[in-house]
Amino acid sequence: MYRSQQLALKYLAAAIVIFGAMVVAGLMSAYYYINPDFLFGLLHFNISKTLHIDTLVIWLLFGFIGAVYWYLPEEFGIEPVGIKAAEVLFYVLCAAIAVVTLVFVFIQYGPSNEVGMWLVNQGRKYVEAPRWAAVGIVVVMLVFAYNVIGTAIRARKITGIVGVLIVDLIPLIVLYLDAFPAARNMSVDLFWWWWLVHMWVEATWEVLIGCIMAWALMNLLGTSRRIVEAWLYIEVALVLGTGILGLGHHYFWIGTPQYWLAVGGFFSAFEPLPLLGMVIHAIYDAGTHHMKTTNRPAFYWMLAEAFGNFIGAGVWGFMMTLPQVNLYSHGTQWTVSHGHFAFWGAYACGVISVCYLVLQKVRGSAFLDGITWRWAFAALNVGLVGMVGALLISGFAQAFIERAQGGSTLEAFIAGQENFWFLDGMYARFAFGLIFAAGYVVLAYDLLTIGRRLPVHAMAVAE
Ligand code: HEM
Ligand code: HEM
Ligand SMILES: [Fe+2]
Repeated sequence: MYRSQQLALKYLAAAIVIFGAMVVAGLMSAYYYINPDFLFGLLHFNISKTLHIDTLVIWLLFGFIGAVYWYLPEEFGIEPVGIKAAEVLFYVLCAAIAVVTLVFVFIQYGPSNEVGMWLVNQGRKYVEAPRWAAVGIVVVMLVFAYNVIGTAIRARKITGIVGVLIVDLIPLIVLYLDAFPAARNMSVDLFWWWWLVHMWVEATWEVLIGCIMAWALMNLLGTSRRIVEAWLYIEVALVLGTGILGLGHHYFWIGTPQYWLAVGGFFSAFEPLPLLGMVIHAIYDAGTHHMKTTNRPAFYWMLAEAFGNFIGAGVWGFMMTLPQVNLYSHGTQWTVSHGHFAFWGAYACGVISVCYLVLQKVRGSAFLDGITWRWAFAALNVGLVGMVGALLISGFAQAFIERAQGGSTLEAFIAGQENFWFLDGMYARFAFGLIFAAGYVVLAYDLLTIGRRLPVHAMAVAE
């Protein structure tokens, strides 16, 4: 095994651990909605939600980085350059994440000046980490980019997938710099912040996971590189063609000029197209291989990724992307419903699929079945889809009562929050959250033990 692949194992293991922290913070955040006095005076909703969504971003990034470190040496047949620096930075990054978590939990608030920004919290949703930590993330990403680009140069070779990956890494890193400035004008601040959030999840991350899934497909089904790369180019073109100006769907009500209503509505309405392309691609590949695979868990998680991406991001996003609808749905639990479905389908399922592919190499190819992964798969997906449905009900209640009937006044906001449809949705979300959390425990157990559980002779027979 290459050193880069050993590092990949560390990144993937850390990703699954941080995923666990995210689930705990998610359950806490959900509990505040049914018992607002929870931990009153000690730790409030804003902190638990920050922990929930920051760990989300971090574990997915860890998953992507791990996947690339895994496939990169196989792509080129050599050890990636600069891997020593990457190894050191992994530990530095983990330590930084631990420190930031402690700061969020125990310090919580800083002065609203540069000191607060540098040491406590930058206050930008999803990228709240204090500046020193954000600088660290930039360094890690630069070394990561060096690993990828340097290796291609040393190997004197470029493949379609790596070419797309390199072109993608540049905007991905540059956009993160958007986490730093602190504009005093709220509209200006949000204007640039959306570049980061939207262009990450609906452009650069989508391309990145496309590259990773391309490798994973070749690995899993033996799909030919020609087919995988042809699809990758089509998907990238469609993602960028619709996603860049699709940014306008966040500019409807934040003080930006009115033309964004048309630009955002029009372009983002086409955003589901590339995601539909991915579903067709997955069905096509699975069909040509008659659903036969040596790694069923990875296969199922990859199908979940394709469908989840299309439905969660494409369909759920499309539902509220026209300004005529978004006027009512904006910022309600309807948005949260889409946020969960999209992140889960587009990214989380893909990372889990890669984990199983990697484990197959590490622990031998014969092990990958049994019942445990099925329980994890079922509980996680039932839990997630249940939460998404519950949130949609709460979101509809808000859209009707707070927006359509009440006209978005503060009084209407309270009336929306007190309505029984809204509250029932919140209870149901918590219940499904518990199912999801149970699924997480089974998944973690399965990843830890799969391939080690079977007695040796059974493995030999299977082999
Ligand atoms: C046990 C499972 C989970 C529970 C109970 C949970 C609960 C929550 C809660 C209560 C919020 C705050 C929403 C608000 O501000 O009203 C939230 C936000 C969020 N969660 Fe989760 N979550 C869980 C799992 C996940 C997973 C698996 C993902 C993605 C893969 C995810 C992604 C997000 C995102 C993106 C947000 C921000 C949404 C927004 O503010 O619009 N969560 N979650
Ligand atoms: C992988 C892809 C995607 C992910 C991970 C994702 C995730 C999210 C998240 C987390 C939010 C809430 C942001 C916040 O306020 O904190 C959001 C908002 C939104 N998304 Fe997506 N999304 C994706 C794709 C799409 C697509 C394809 C569409 C449209 C077709 C779309 C339409 C929207 C709209 C209109 C909003 C604003 C909701 C509001 O007004 O409150 N998204 N998305
Ligand atoms: Fe967006």
